[in-house]
Amino acid sequence: MNKKHILAICGSTRAASVNLHVIKHIASLTEDELDVELYEDLVNLPQFNPDTDTTEQLPAIVAGFRNKVKQADGILICTPEYVFTLPGSLKNALEWTVSATVFSDKPTALITASGMGAKAHEALLLVMKTIQTVFTDETQLLISGAKSKISKEGMIQDPKTETNLRNLAAAFVLLVKG
Ligand SMILES: Cc1cc2nc3c(=O)[nH]c(=O)nc-3n(C[C@H](O)[C@H](O)[C@H](O)COP(=O)(O)O)c2cc1C
Repeated sequence: MNKKHILAICGSTRAASVNLHVIKHIASLTEDELDVELYEDLVNLPQFNPDTDTTEQLPAIVAGFRNKVKQADGILICTPEYVFTLPGSLKNALEWTVSATVFSDKPTALITASGMGAKAHEALLLVMKTIQTVFTDETQLLISGAKSKISKEGMIQDPKTETNLRNLAAAFVLLVKG
């Protein structure tokens, strides 16, 4: 069976990120049907600059990022909240995609795992709706108190969170398969 290709974007650039653990968990839950590639270069993307958002001047790394989004069958974003909104690195990456409309109609799963996270999650849903991704109530999830629910080693210690992640994973597979 041909697996669908998913590009995963982690809003945290921390090596021991809880959100990275969540991405790996979703990848493992869906491994029979989805092939999940982690986007590794979020930290290396230049600051968004409309003056270089042109055919002639677009940085190669940005073109590469846009291409990965365009080629993917679906997108998984997991992010923490920083000062009550999205981390700048994630917002920056999303800004680079606006003019290229590469997220339009893209099936997407959206997770915010943070201490609180409600404001960032709200912002994430608004941004992703604005750039016309396709997601449902079942493919979005806020995990507040994330560090008490997910161990440093990535074990999901909270049964309700495990159930929610399993339900999201199943809904995401269905959304991606159309
Ligand atoms: C600069 C900074 C600002 C933060 N602001 C918030 C915040 O507003 N709300 C929140 O829930 N957590 C906040 N945190 C905590 C992190 O979001 C939280 O520790 C999260 O679990 C980190 O995700 P990660 O483990 O994937 O890196 C902040 C952390 C940093 C470094």
